[in-house]
Amino acid sequence: MNFLKQLDMRKSIRHFDSNYVISDEEIIEILNHAANAPSSNNAQPWKVVVVKNKKLLVELQKLSFNQEQVGQASAVFFILGDKRDYDINRLIKSNLKYNLIHESDINDKRQRIKTYFSLHPEDKEAVGLRFDVGLFSMNLMHVLRAFDYDSVPMRGVDFAKITTLLKLPNEWEPILLLPVGKASTIGHPHKREPAKKFTTIMD
Ligand SMILES: Cc1cc2nc3c(=O)[nH]c(=O)nc-3n(C[C@H](O)[C@H](O)[C@H](O)COP(=O)(O)O)c2cc1C
Repeated sequence: MNFLKQLDMRKSIRHFDSNYVISDEEIIEILNHAANAPSSNNAQPWKVVVVKNKKLLVELQKLSFNQEQVGQASAVFFILGDKRDYDINRLIKSNLKYNLIHESDINDKRQRIKTYFSLHPEDKEAVGLRFDVGLFSMNLMHVLRAFDYDSVPMRGVDFAKITTLLKLPNEWEPILLLPVGKASTIGHPHKREPAKKFTTIMD
């Protein structure tokens, strides 16, 4: 499908075929594509917990103010971020691991990362996670469409109770709950302001 058409056709879907099973292999393939998203200093601070267990899906629906799409999904992707991934020593280590820098570049790289975070200290906090993990999440929603799945991004849920239910580390900041599955209804037509209304072009 044409790329722009694919982008335009993504809509939040709130009813899924609850009998459809998504395989673990497909989930991993989808997430490998989604992980090509950009992030500050390539920190890749995302964590993803994928719930397929039907009993847990029922519990998640209860903690999502009973929004039905949660219980009907083939899988619910709980997307979180870990700000420890912004630690400068970790960033240097991963740059070395990926062969992006040599040992001789470490001081330079360290200085550049320091400058970045002194310009944007909030980028090391929850705000930074929302940005980086938000970009990852958007990528994921489009990758899911390419694999013929639909989804709905959700924050109208009780993240604290979900984190406790799934026994996740306290350091992981919840960003989004993303029910995923085969659509059983179509989404609402897009209602958007035209670009001219929110754009300033300076010639
Ligand atoms: C941060 C965020 C939180 C959202 N939370 C919910 C939610 O709790 N429940 C829900 O049904 N939709 C939720 N949505 C989906 C929006 O309602 C939806 O994206 C918007 O109405 C535009 O529709 P579209 O996604 O079909 O283009 C959320 C979307 C975002 C980006």
